[in-house]
This record gives sequence, C-alpha cells and structure tokens, in this order.
Amino acid sequence: MATKIRAAVLQAFGQPLVLQELELDPPKAGEVLVRMAASGVCHSDLHVAQGTHPTELPVVLGHEGAGVVQEVGPGVAGLAAGDHVLLTWLPYCGQCRQCARGWPNRCENTAWYDATLEDGTCRFHSGGRPVHHYNTSSFAERSVVPSRTAIRVDPSLPLTELALMGCAVMTGVGAVLNTARVRPGDTVAIVGCGGVGLNVVQGARIAGATTIVAIDVVSAKLELARELGATAVVDASDGDPVDVVRELIPGGADHAFEALGRQETIEMALALTGRGGQAVLIGMAPHGARVGLDALTTTLEERCVRGSWYGSCVPLRDIPLLIELYREGRLRLEPLITRCGLDDVNDAFARMEAGETARTVIVY
Ligand SMILES: NC(=O)c1ccc[n+]([C@@H]2O[C@H](COP(=O)([O-])OP(=O)(O)OC[C@H]3O[C@@H](n4cnc5c(N)ncnc54)[C@H](O)[C@@H]3O)[C@@H](O)[C@H]2O)c1
Ligand SMILES: [Zn+2]
Ligand SMILES: [Zn+2]
Repeated sequence: MATKIRAAVLQAFGQPLVLQELELDPPKAGEVLVRMAASGVCHSDLHVAQGTHPTELPVVLGHEGAGVVQEVGPGVAGLAAGDHVLLTWLPYCGQCRQCARGWPNRCENTAWYDATLEDGTCRFHSGGRPVHHYNTSSFAERSVVPSRTAIRVDPSLPLTELALMGCAVMTGVGAVLNTARVRPGDTVAIVGCGGVGLNVVQGARIAGATTIVAIDVVSAKLELARELGATAVVDASDGDPVDVVRELIPGGADHAFEALGRQETIEMALALTGRGGQAVLIGMAPHGARVGLDALTTTLEERCVRGSWYGSCVPLRDIPLLIELYREGRLRLEPLITRCGLDDVNDAFARMEAGETARTVIVY
C-alpha cells in the first residue's frame, strides 16, 4: 500500500521547488523506507534545481539525510524498523573492478541512481505518474533508498548533526584524509569555505596540517574557518588572493582544494600549489568546463591535479571514523548548522547562494 507524504519537488529547472503531497510505494527488494529526521541542503541540489546538472523531472532532491527505518524490503539484512540511519548518497555494486579495488565511490554500475532506484522505477508518484529520485531524495518526509546507502548509527546521536555526514562532512574530510592523504606538517589552502570547504578545513586540522589557509569572499565564512582550524584566512573579494597566499605559504601549498566548481577558482587552486603539490577538485563545474594548466611548471615541479568524488569514501569504514571524531569533539558540526523546516527549502537555497549560511538543515 502506498502512503501519502509531503515532499519538495522540482518541476522545472530554474523554478522554486514545489511543496506537494506524493504517494510513496513500499520498499522493494534491497530497499528500505526511511522516515527522515533531517536533511542538509547542499549546493549540488541547487546545481540540479538551476539546471546546471540536469536530471529527469519531476524529481525529489536532497541527498544529505538521516532518519529512522520504518520498513525494510525483501532480502534486506542488518537493518530493521526503528533503526536510526545516516544516509550516504552513493550506492555501489560491490562486484565491479573499482569496488573490488576498494573504491566503491568509483563504482561502474550505478548509472541508474541518477533518477530512479536500481530496478529503473520510482517509488514516488503523483496522480499516477512517477516522480524521480535524486540519490536519497531527502527533501521528503519519507523516502525509499537502497539499503546499502543506509548506515545504522547509535540512536543516542543527534540525527540533525549526523545528517551532515551524509554529504558535506564525508566529502570535505574524506577529500583530505582519503583523496589527498594530507600528512602532519603539510601545508593546505582551501578555495571556497561553504558546507564542503569548511569540512576540508577541519579535515586538514584533524590530519595535522600545520598551515591551513582558507579563502572565501564572505567574512563570516572566514571567521567560521578560523574557528574550525584555519591558521590564516584570505578574503578573495579584496583582489586576487594568489600572491597573499604565496606569502603565507612560501613555495606554494602541498594541497590546494577547490570547493566551488568554477573555472577561475579551479585555476586559482592550480596556481596555489607548490613543488610536488596537488590541486584537489571537489567543486562540481558545469558540463564541458575547461581550465588552463601551466604545462611546463606542472612537469618541472611535479605538480598534479586530481578529482575527489564523495571524499573517496568507503562508507562502512569512514562513517564510523567520522562519528568517533565527532564524539571526541575533534569534528565540529553544530557551528555549521542553520535549522529550518521543509517549507523553507527555497529560502535555504537563496541564503546559500547569497553566502549567508554554512549549512542549512531541514528538520522534520
Ligand atoms: N565532489 C563531491 O563529491 C561533491 C560533494 C558535495 C558537493 N560538491 C560540490 O562542492 C561545491 C561546494 O558545495 P557547498 O555545498 O559547500 O557550497 P556552498 O555554496 O555552501 O559553498 C561555496 C562557498 O564558496 C564561496 N565563494 C563564492 N565565490 C567565491 C570566490 N570567488 N572565491 C572564494 N570563495 C567563494 C561562498 O561564499 C561559499 O562559502 C559545489 O560545487 C557542490 O556541487 C561536490
Ligand atoms: Zn552534496
Ligand atoms: Zn561497483
């Protein structure tokens, strides 16, 4: 039997999400139905809403959720109704070459997850027509997700804060620990200190980086970056920050992270790296975007550029680590959060675009 739920639905690119009632089918094999407790609002949702990264419409966005399992589908082991779960946004097959090599974030068999569940169909419906999924579709009171994406957590932990681990924290901290493998004493620069970039800052502190330079255009973000571990901050609205950062990190950074997805800031990250340094691209550039690279310097100084997708995570290994860091007080989530209701989701997008919030979390 389908149940009625409320969700924020994207009907057309460039238009506000519409709050509407949908029908939600029960979970099929390998799926679980989750009652959402909280969902962060990520810039990736906004990229889809604006049509920069289009998907099938209509669609329920949201991919940074946490909640409580309400029903499990056939064949689901290890999860039961009542379990508290954190939702990761990338399923993986566990069978392909990349999964076998230990990189489930690079799984070759999850193209279906762009708009549907694994059998190619949708659990959301409206007026007899399917409404598409976008990863875990956490902008809905309830959602059906692949069971592999739901990680059981201690029910005494606050789900509002844990939700952030579903994307911003895993992406940011994972980029530092897993993708870049920052080591004690390394120097780090971060371009763009929003929900993801601020977690790169705290990841760099956790990894033992000694110089952590945060770059943004909003002074409140820079203050937050300092609070979370940046040793110096640079306001890019005062002019090109490359020379200033190179004074703070003589010779250039060992690691320069870009957490925006724009040509000019990616080129800035490339310019911030030093000998043997790497630029780590986290931001999602528009399709077809190209950047300029100084080829000779790259060769002579053995610099490199690499992408980081979902913090190169292995969810069952990394989520428990993040939770442990959080319990120890080394990973701080509360300073990032601005709370709102599902009805305020368009306002949350507007405030994110204006740079006013580090992370808005919808609390159901
Ligand atoms: N690679 C991945 O797996 C992954 C995962 C999640 C998000 N993302 C992408 O990461 C990017 C960041 O996401 P977010 O949710 O943190 O976004 P956000 O909007 O919260 O953060 C962007 C930050 O950039 C700052 N900024 C704007 N212009 C700037 C400039 N010229 N120089 C320096 N800083 C500037 C803003 O003030 C803001 O603090 C997005 O492109 C998102 O799609 C990638
Ligand atoms: Zn995200
Ligand atoms: Zn796979």
